[in-house]
Amino acid sequence: MKAGIIGIGSYLPDKVISNYDLEKKVDTSNEWIIERTGISYRRKANDNICSSDLGAEAAKLSIKDANLEPEDIDLIISASSSPDRIFPATACIIQNKIRAKNAAAFDIQAACTGFIYALTTAAQFIVGGQYKNILVVGSEVLSKVTDWEDRNTCVLFGDGAGAVVLSKVKWGGVINSILGADGNGSELLELPAGGTKEPADFDTVKKRRHYIKMSGNEVFKFAVKVFEDCTRKVIKEADLSLNDIDLIIPHQANIRIIDAAIKRLKFPRDRVVVNLSNYGNMSSASIPVALDEAFRMGRIKKGHKIILIGFGAGLTWGANLIDWNL
Ligand code: UT7
Repeated sequence: MKAGIIGIGSYLPDKVISNYDLEKKVDTSNEWIIERTGISYRRKANDNICSSDLGAEAAKLSIKDANLEPEDIDLIISASSSPDRIFPATACIIQNKIRAKNAAAFDIQAACTGFIYALTTAAQFIVGGQYKNILVVGSEVLSKVTDWEDRNTCVLFGDGAGAVVLSKVKWGGVINSILGADGNGSELLELPAGGTKEPADFDTVKKRRHYIKMSGNEVFKFAVKVFEDCTRKVIKEADLSLNDIDLIIPHQANIRIIDAAIKRLKFPRDRVVVNLSNYGNMSSASIPVALDEAFRMGRIKKGHKIILIGFGAGLTWGANLIDWNL
């Protein structure tokens, strides 16, 4: 018995920020951003919107897609790098917003790998028999934790949300999952202040410590390496080969990361889902949004073997190998 995805949904705010808009804010150019990242546009939520709002909209769509009602959900796992608050869990706020009154709810913090960690955890609860229908949400309003004066980071991120419902399936489902972490690299990508290490005060605000800080080059090299290693490992453990894989859906951080890893793997580029040009890096929401789009476009068919692969702050990484059951 395996856990499989029985419903998917995604939700993106309407407002689009182009590279040309960013040229007016910081010393950058459309050419630089496209050449170094592959990103042309990203979405931005309105000021009154937080992660749980986007997550709740994606959640409702995924539950409808699964032909279920919110009361049928037994557990909600939410992943976000831009949660509503330190506590309570964003999952609890989503639970209330969608009226999933029978669901337990908790958050997972694994930054851009959050969706993979959450999906892997959900699959275990299903296989273990404790829960029947689990909602997994990746939602981000990164625009509120992005330093709009820092050209190194403000060109990269976008807002959005994606969600899936997992349940027991008779055929297919999640075949294998791997997760990894290296806390030695925890300072390479972080939001330094606002927690117990650097509580919020006038100084942390003045020093702009409540925004994302990243050592781009080091994270880039790490990402290419784990993308390749993770892909090989998740396939090998399932006794499959790269030739068996129909589609790879990676975290959408940078087109050069995806191209470099795909080249190392010698995997056909037309079997890799890339949508970062339109949305930028949506951290935990990137993978479920790309998954939803690929499915709606007919790129994923029943029986396809697909790999979801994530990497990011922590440092963390992970992959799911899925025999598509829908
Ligand atoms: O989602 C979690 C995982 N995150 C990632 O995987 C992100 C990984 N890192 C990256 O994608 C890339 O490192 C970046 C896109 C962030 C940066 O690209 P890069 O090719 O590594 O550029 P760089 O940081 O080495 O900077 C090259 C130059 C620098 O100028 P100097 O020092 O050579 O004069 C930067 O100051 O480009 C400059 N630069 C910019 N120029 C124009 C940095 N950002 C910009 C910008 N516009 N927006």
